[in-house]
Amino acid sequence: MIDDQDTGRALPGHGVPAERVLREIRGLREADRPTHGGRLFAYVYDPAVPGLDDLAAAAHAGSAHVNGLDPTAFPSLLAMENALVGAAARLLGGGPGTTAPDVVGSVTSGGTESLILAVKAARDARPEIGEPRIAVPVTAHAAFAKAAHYLRVALDPVPVDPDTLRPSAADVAAAIRPDTVLVACSAPSYAHGVVDPVAGIAEVAAAAGVRCHVDACFGGWTLPWLRRLGVPVPPFDFAVDGVTSISVDLHKYAYAPKGVSVLLHRDPALRAPQYFAYADWPGYTMVNPVIASTRSGGPIAAAYATLRHLGEDGYLRLAGATRDAVAGLADAVRGVDGLRLMAEPESTVVCFTSVDPGLDLFVLVDELTARGWHTQPQLTYGELPASVHLTVTASVAPRVAEFGPDLADAVAAARAAGPVELPAELTALAATLTPDALTPDLVAGLAAGLGLGGTPSGGPASGPGAFAPDATVNALLDAAPPALRERLLVEFVGLLQRPTY
Ligand SMILES: Cc1ncc(COP(=O)(O)O)c(C=O)c1O
Repeated sequence: MIDDQDTGRALPGHGVPAERVLREIRGLREADRPTHGGRLFAYVYDPAVPGLDDLAAAAHAGSAHVNGLDPTAFPSLLAMENALVGAAARLLGGGPGTTAPDVVGSVTSGGTESLILAVKAARDARPEIGEPRIAVPVTAHAAFAKAAHYLRVALDPVPVDPDTLRPSAADVAAAIRPDTVLVACSAPSYAHGVVDPVAGIAEVAAAAGVRCHVDACFGGWTLPWLRRLGVPVPPFDFAVDGVTSISVDLHKYAYAPKGVSVLLHRDPALRAPQYFAYADWPGYTMVNPVIASTRSGGPIAAAYATLRHLGEDGYLRLAGATRDAVAGLADAVRGVDGLRLMAEPESTVVCFTSVDPGLDLFVLVDELTARGWHTQPQLTYGELPASVHLTVTASVAPRVAEFGPDLADAVAAARAAGPVELPAELTALAATLTPDALTPDLVAGLAAGLGLGGTPSGGPASGPGAFAPDATVNALLDAAPPALRERLLVEFVGLLQRPTY
């Protein structure tokens, strides 16, 4: 017997038939941004290869219950993990016949975990340092800040040139202190898609005896193919002396389902402090190469199936389609008065800003959304203006011709609508409020003032998408200093994350 009142409950009184459960999930998914179709420029990586999703899903299902906790119990997982690490190492200048023949690595759950572990390995390799530090360009991914926070390592931000959006090796050298355990750089950065001067940065790190991590989570799986296609890609991998570790996410441009990244180290000694082993308890002796202990084999098997099915020729073809899509989208941006590319595209990102005070980028983002294009707004940061980010994947290629006219149309509509005008009291509040002064009541008031749904003191949020940050919310966040933005976001998302009973 099905009790209809149970709809939406994770634990209904009576079990629900499989078909209905799947139908319900499909129903929930309808509120999501479209993961396929080449109109979502963040969060998802879609190659639009027929049959690939089914293959990955079948591989995932076949290994979902396998546990990576003990590689000796499940050699299938160890074999696939070693094959994935080998593929990544070979692609990134390591392995037999290269200058980095001893590269080793681990499969992690994502870029953030890879970066946390790179920082942990660097920290734990220098136990004599009481207050370890890392030097990281401000354009590097926020996961470095998270790693520093979790691991109690101090973060020394390295400025970037506001024109090139890159740090200089000299500024990195200046940021290195006696207690620095790691220097990081991006290949490329997520926000703007530019490749840092890895060779120079690795050189100053090596000269100081400090590890150098290249965060190639985003682009490590595309830059090598782009290079083979003739795109000028600067040296960024293990071919560069002084690069000690590299991260590359397979759930990004290797087009594997979510939950899989690879962290590589130049040799086993560099990797050793990444591990955690514990034998001082009465249960099983534990050795974890990564943060998680129990790990599903699903993502690893799905990634293995994806790589084997696409092969080098497949990735080369997909990189070519992506490169062409990037060129087409960049042309579309160049063709609109009032917009300026933040950087000439050199990887798979198109990022632009507004040079017309009457053209509010956050309003433009909403106008694009209304036309079915889901882009990612980026807030003002120091000297860097607010911008719109497009992560471009192969699935965008067939859509490019539709983008230009819609962009022009959306720009005209955004100009006609004019910039967001926040209520004066909100702007004043954003400029003067300190994060500590944010009480739950104030947040509730702000949420209500911004027209956000949800009930702050319990009960379900008012529905999917109720908190989707529109131009008004982005304008408010943009007016606030970073520390206040962080607190506001924590509070707003806290309002969303309420149990449904
Ligand atoms: C350069 C870079 N590093 C790290 C990450 C974090 O990856 P994840 O979201 O898989 O944790 C990202 C995500 O976009 C990224 O672009």
